[in-house]
Amino acid sequence: MPPSVPAEAPLDCPLCPRLVAYRRDNDVAHPDWFNAPVPSFGDERARLLIVGLAPGVQGANRTGRPFTGDYAGDLLYGTLMEFGFAKGTYDARPDDGLELKRAMITNAVRCVPPQNKPTPAEAKNCLGFLKARIAALPDLKVILALGRIAHDAVLSAHGVRKASAAFGHGAAYELPGGVRLFDSYHCSRYNTNTRRLTPEMFHGVFRDITSFLES
Ligand code: URA
Repeated sequence: MPPSVPAEAPLDCPLCPRLVAYRRDNDVAHPDWFNAPVPSFGDERARLLIVGLAPGVQGANRTGRPFTGDYAGDLLYGTLMEFGFAKGTYDARPDDGLELKRAMITNAVRCVPPQNKPTPAEAKNCLGFLKARIAALPDLKVILALGRIAHDAVLSAHGVRKASAAFGHGAAYELPGGVRLFDSYHCSRYNTNTRRLTPEMFHGVFRDITSFLES
């Protein structure tokens, strides 16, 4: 992608034919839904950037705000409140008045993928937006990757080889440029229902991030 890629995908982004077709199908079936690349949400002075996977079809793809209306948003936004990265009330609506404080949320893939599974080619097509998003945050200190696909996208955005920084819940790495990458299992319904990720485990990663930001 040329360096002039913006931090937010255009609403009619044509890069992934399969995702464009799925967006159109959803638009026919649910014309009142957002059905477009979901823009990042939060504070342009963010010190923490959270990178999720992709919008859920009836969540962020419907509401137009990352994790909003997605089951995963309940744990994520609750945790952001608890650790002082959000103020207001999370009510699963983009007009609930919730504000992020020194934090921003984005997705490795901005459009909803069928079955919640973007292909590697789709993640690659979207990488320019992630790079631009990261580059546009002057105060960025920490990136939290939710799951392996987000982790790999963050490494690619920094030109780091996957073999040199394995994904692992609770793992942390220094990225070129000095930003620190923290990993967590994704806070998805599947992971929390199976207790692969408990609220305590998720809070543990936020404790690590907070200690790092305070150090
Ligand atoms: N909603 C999002 O916006 N991203 C995810 O990764 C999951 C749900």
